[in-house]
Amino acid sequence: MDKALKTKTILLVITGGIAAYKSLELIRLLRKNGAKVRAILTKGGAQFVTPLSVSALCEEEVFTDLWSLKDETEMGHIRLSREADLIIIAPASADFLAKMAHGKADDLASTTLLAANKPILFAPAMNHKMWENNATHDNLQKLHARGMSQIGPEEGDMACGEYGPGRMSPPESILQSVLDYFYKRPLKGLHALVTAGPTHEPIDPVRYIGNRSSGRQGYAIAAALELAGAHVTLISGPVNLPAPPNVDVIYIETAAQMLKACKNALPADMAICTAAVSDWAPQAQAKNKIKKQKDLPPPAIALTENPDILQTLCMDKDRPPLMIGFAAETNDLEKNAKAKIQRKKCDWILANDVSNQKVFGKPENHVHFITKHTHEDWKECPKAEIARRLVEKIIEYHDQ
Ligand code: C5P
Repeated sequence: MDKALKTKTILLVITGGIAAYKSLELIRLLRKNGAKVRAILTKGGAQFVTPLSVSALCEEEVFTDLWSLKDETEMGHIRLSREADLIIIAPASADFLAKMAHGKADDLASTTLLAANKPILFAPAMNHKMWENNATHDNLQKLHARGMSQIGPEEGDMACGEYGPGRMSPPESILQSVLDYFYKRPLKGLHALVTAGPTHEPIDPVRYIGNRSSGRQGYAIAAALELAGAHVTLISGPVNLPAPPNVDVIYIETAAQMLKACKNALPADMAICTAAVSDWAPQAQAKNKIKKQKDLPPPAIALTENPDILQTLCMDKDRPPLMIGFAAETNDLEKNAKAKIQRKKCDWILANDVSNQKVFGKPENHVHFITKHTHEDWKECPKAEIARRLVEKIIEYHDQ
């Protein structure tokens, strides 16, 4: 039988951590499955494994230095990613994750990644306190929002003698993720529509009615669906997030534009409406900036109700078979979510209790997964994790 990774080139970045020794085994496994492996070894990585061992296992030269004339003329930091099908960072140290999150480019590995145009899978490895530190969480959130995928870490005894989460996933599990990435794309052939972010409803050319939605949850869902193989159209309000890789993003400002873009994107096999659509818009947009008038009272803004995009799509003749909404509730979460399912005619609602928490812009969320007949509390977890769990549910739904 043909080796599964026969036509694939993997760029493996080995950063500084004791788990680097496991990356030697990862190279062996990838090569055994037919992949061509090119490796970048950071200065820190070279403290744990030698360039000679890495290059002997890759049967390729190992790349180490941004300023090496030899490395640059032979391969160059741009070609290293261009010629790869997938980039794996294993181990990904806390320092390297921070570097990537902040877009630094001060060595060959970080420069190559900043210039990369390929999917990135990283396997964190660090002490459990470093892993649990909010600084690391913030960095991870940024990397997830950019569409990077994570495997592990696992919980267990650490090299430092402590116990906790932070051990790099075993090479066999990383290999499995690589095989899954290339071959088990369970939503392949399906079209997913995702709405995300706020809408801006103009009052005049410079002012608008908006809200604090960051778009993070919707972007994480779009990235997770893409990773599972779906063709994703993301209809996004104004947010400050990079487009997830391989996702078609359509940028809009108003609810009316969002609805139009959604309808244009149909047919779809599913729609996930995470957008915080403004309930109202000014009846008319003033042509010129409204001026303060000294002796007159402030102007009143007459509002009109916006279309409910989720509800409209649910009633459409081309209704996607699976319709998923979000709901922020301050009380009677389950009752209100079930009533919303009835009213809007959607299939599932992810509801969060916002009575005493700030959700917008936060990396975590606490949602309840509610269908007509079931209710699961997903407890507080990162938005990327919620995205992964939702995609699992979608895969289960399509497997039935
Ligand atoms: O009615 P409520 O705003 O609580 O419903 C929230 C759900 O409905 C979310 O999925 C949101 O994206 C969607 N929605 C919409 N268009 C609106 C209002 C809400 O798609 N105008």
